[in-house]
Amino acid sequence: MTPTRGAFAVLFSFALAVSTGLFAQTTQPKSSAASADVLAEKAAAAPAGRASAPRSLVPLPAKPAPTSSHAPFEAGDCKICHQNADPKHPGPVFKKGPALCLDCHEEFNGVMKRAHTHAPARTDCTSCHNPHNSVFSKLLHLEPRALCVSCHEKIGKLHDSAKVPHKALTTGKYCSNCHNPHGSTVEKLLIQLPFDLCVNCHSVDTMADANGKKLQNIKAWLLDNPKQHGPVASKDCNDCHEPHGGDLFRLINQDYPPEFYAPYDAKNYGLCFGCHREKAFSTAQTATLTSFRNGATNLHYLHLQQSGRGRTCRACHEVHAAKQDHLIRDGVPYGSGGWILKLNYKKTATGGSCEKTCHAEKSYANRTAP
Ligand code: HEC
Ligand code: HEC
Ligand code: HEC
Ligand code: HEC
Ligand code: HEC
Ligand code: HEC
Ligand code: HEC
Ligand code: HEC
Ligand code: HEC
Repeated sequence: MTPTRGAFAVLFSFALAVSTGLFAQTTQPKSSAASADVLAEKAAAAPAGRASAPRSLVPLPAKPAPTSSHAPFEAGDCKICHQNADPKHPGPVFKKGPALCLDCHEEFNGVMKRAHTHAPARTDCTSCHNPHNSVFSKLLHLEPRALCVSCHEKIGKLHDSAKVPHKALTTGKYCSNCHNPHGSTVEKLLIQLPFDLCVNCHSVDTMADANGKKLQNIKAWLLDNPKQHGPVASKDCNDCHEPHGGDLFRLINQDYPPEFYAPYDAKNYGLCFGCHREKAFSTAQTATLTSFRNGATNLHYLHLQQSGRGRTCRACHEVHAAKQDHLIRDGVPYGSGGWILKLNYKKTATGGSCEKTCHAEKSYANRTAP
């Protein structure tokens, strides 16, 4: 314990015997002129072109009782932070910025030395916390989510107007489910590596989307299906998903048809063609662009572009991981009863085959037998 803390502990226990209301009553709301100055300061600390967190740094009146109150303020001796002990005339604080807080909150000395620290926490802890008390938890100026989006307006708007919002932002610790508001060893203030963040939350069988449709347990799926898609193997869920909410189904960040059958149009496959060559799917005859061909007949082209009943990639491929090579799925749901039609895909010496599936056994050859 530091000397400051030791001294404070004595004061704190003494103060518990004293009515806490006494001190709170003696303070007045700040004049609007002073608040305007504070807001101007805040604007300077806000991300470029964005708003700032409203804050009032004066102690709140005793009634209605604040939700959170700072222990040293409860102790009643304003001199712990201000020049004077007198609650009517506390005078200025004796240290500016985070230094005042770090004297007691020693663990934050470590937090604020991490590779990535949050700009407002570097300049002023009171950007987000009232040093005395608050109607919100943890001495925050606003509800946790409202606090973040008061400066990060763009993300607030993105999520509020998203056709597919992400519950990760509106439950539990809100933005702090993924970000540390102070500092982190991970980029973008993330509390874990992004892959771990996503997979650790998506590790239950009970999760459902907004329409009540059950969502895959991604962690279990990845354990059961060892052949992972390139970007999943390199742990980049954000290559395809927008963590803060979006307009496309399943929070994907580029177009991909949500249906099983869809007439072919390259622009509906922006997600896949951002990384895979579109020509491999739109060229009817080729001996090089794809291995899914029988001789020179491009079977990708054939299946995707069959007039009227084009299949989407999901007819044959998993998107995250599969048990078989080429991300070929085991089966596809058939009808609404949840029955799975097996694809029975097999690799052969010269190509591959599917049997008793969408059609009678068919095989393709894309090379000569070794
Ligand atoms: C944990 C430290 C701490 C304690 C204890 C504390 N304050 Fe403060 N107080 C602050 C900080 C920090 C500010 C903001 C100062 C600034 O930004 O210049 C502040 C600002 C104020 C202001 C607004 C002053 C202004 O000019 O903006 C008032 C009024 C105030 N405190 C009253 C009190 C009273 C009364 C007590 C004792 C009952 C007290 N404070 C105890 C940290 C503290
Ligand atoms: C004199 C020592 C002291 C100083 C200075 C101090 N704190 Fe604290 N603070 C404490 C103690 C003690 C607690 C209660 C810790 C606990 O319950 O584990 C606390 C708790 C908090 C909490 C959690 C409140 C809650 O409701 O859970 C926040 C947030 C906080 N302090 C922020 C600040 C900020 C911001 C500053 C600087 C303006 C500051 N502290 C300065 C001693 C101090
Ligand atoms: C950008 C806003 C923001 C800034 C700036 C900020 N904090 Fe916080 N702080 C938060 C939020 C949000 C929480 C609640 C986090 C949670 O629920 O996990 C919090 C929680 C805390 C707690 C309570 C921790 C606990 O486990 O209960 C302490 C203590 C604290 N902050 C101290 C500080 C100090 C010291 C600084 C300056 C170095 C600071 N904060 C700057 C947003 C901020
Ligand atoms: C007082 C304004 C303010 C508040 C409140 C605020 N931020 Fe920030 N935040 C900033 C500033 C300034 C930056 C610096 C980057 C910039 O200019 O865009 C930043 C950057 C970030 C970054 C990017 C960090 C990086 O390394 O690129 C994340 C993530 C972030 N904030 C999350 C949050 C979360 C979560 C909250 C709520 C707990 C929050 N912010 C509240 C001002 C704020
Ligand atoms: C599900 C986890 C998750 C939640 C919850 C979350 N974020 Fe993020 N956030 C991320 C990830 C992942 C990134 C990094 C994205 C990237 O690098 O492409 C990020 C990046 C950011 C950035 C940096 C933006 C940039 O373009 O560099 C800010 C600012 C930010 N988040 C703010 C917030 C705010 C504010 C909230 C709450 C309203 C929030 N986040 C909630 C996962 C999350
Ligand atoms: C190559 C792009 C891509 C990558 C990388 C990716 N996803 Fe997906 N994800 C998708 C697509 C496309 C869907 C929609 C699947 C469908 O309906 O056919 C989806 C669906 C989902 C779903 C909903 C599953 C369901 O039951 O419908 C979750 C949850 C999910 N992804 C999480 C993750 C996580 C976690 C990661 C990282 C481990 C990740 N995704 C990586 C493209 C991707
Ligand atoms: C704090 C827990 C949590 C974290 C962390 C989290 N998610 Fe989620 N996610 C959820 C919940 C709960 C749902 C279901 C409710 C909903 O639709 O938002 C969901 C839904 C989804 C969906 C389906 C959305 C839909 O409605 O179609 C996708 C895709 C997804 N998450 C991807 C991700 C990715 C990628 C990450 C990592 C950046 C991630 N999640 C991190 C909790 C989390
Ligand atoms: C962020 C880039 C990226 C996106 C987006 C992407 N992929 Fe991939 N994909 C890869 C990488 C990298 C590989 C591994 C390539 C390798 O191993 O040669 C791969 C491999 C594959 C394979 C397996 C190839 C094989 O023979 O093993 C299939 C199938 C596949 N992707 C389908 C898709 C589909 C369908 C989509 C759209 C829903 C998609 N990909 C979106 C990067 C991506
Ligand atoms: C009718 C089933 C089927 C459909 C639909 C399908 N694929 Fe394939 N795909 C395959 C098979 C089978 C292979 C493996 C070929 C081989 O190497 O023997 C393959 C291989 C691939 C490969 C590896 C490179 C190559 O072309 O050989 C990629 C990438 C790929 N598919 C992406 C996609 C994308 C993107 C879509 C949707 C636009 C899609 N596939 C639709 C069956 C399909």
